[in-house]
Amino acid sequence: MTTAGDGQRSTAALRPGVAIAGRHIAKSFGHVNALTDAHVTVESGKVVALLGDNGAGKSTFLKCLLGIEKPSSGTLVIADQETTLDTVRDAQRLGVDCIHQDLALAPALSVVDNMFLGHQVRHRGVRGRVGVVARREMSERAAAALEELSIRLPSLSVPVSDLSGGQRQAVAVARAVMWSSTAVLMDEPTAALGARQSEIVCELMRTVAARGLGVLVVSHDLPRVLTVADSVAILWRGETVVETEAEGLTVPDVVATMVGYRKGVA
Ligand SMILES: Nc1ncnc2c1ncn2[C@@H]1O[C@H](COP(=O)(O)OP(=O)(O)OP(=O)(O)O)[C@@H](O)[C@H]1O
Ligand SMILES: [Mg+2]
Repeated sequence: MTTAGDGQRSTAALRPGVAIAGRHIAKSFGHVNALTDAHVTVESGKVVALLGDNGAGKSTFLKCLLGIEKPSSGTLVIADQETTLDTVRDAQRLGVDCIHQDLALAPALSVVDNMFLGHQVRHRGVRGRVGVVARREMSERAAAALEELSIRLPSLSVPVSDLSGGQRQAVAVARAVMWSSTAVLMDEPTAALGARQSEIVCELMRTVAARGLGVLVVSHDLPRVLTVADSVAILWRGETVVETEAEGLTVPDVVATMVGYRKGVA
């Protein structure tokens, strides 16, 4: 079995259980209580939508689950283990990666270089020690990761600025999956996309979950995300007020809870 974060996830990593969870998470920035009692549980192989109005605390919650922000209090669970995260590297070591709200691809770099950003593969031996990068291996691994998710691109050597918004987002998803063995967190992955491209990214979420990873997605695209998610957690002013299965939920009910804190959406 390959280990978390080596970019070659094995299906042997698939197993039932909690991929990632946050329980009773609080986070303050000075006098701003961004999170007061946030919780969510994402099981392996499931897609969970984290919903809430602007400023509800969704991005802050994801950052706490990723080690980008340190919670003031609360418990994190990754791969069934209670854990604390001091840095993003800690989350990566446990097989958790993300797609940020601002995407964080480097537009001038190629698809392959973006897939390996921060993770370049060195040649073995002397060439590796003097910093020579194994380009062919990187290309092959990037191609395999894209193929695994059935992502088709015109070329892997073009700068990502030459790709469409949907293709860029697909590269971001593939990159996150390539370096994850436990969970992928996505903050607004369809925000800048058209209808068809959003659908493709949503289909990718299901493909990623079917590979055994937990997927936690923040989205304001309620109709689409309710279709793709197994369950939803709704944040209201920093507090999770609803955690429930997505099946049967309607957009008006979810909106009512998001903006007004009506306990329960049924
Ligand atoms: N670094 C920070 N310093 C101070 N306040 C912050 C910081 N980050 C977030 N906040 C505050 O925390 C609250 C929650 O913000 P957050 O970005 O998590 O909301 P969100 O649900 O992701 O909103 P949106 O839907 O607009 O992206 C807001 O009041 C925001 O102003
Ligand atoms: Mg946000």
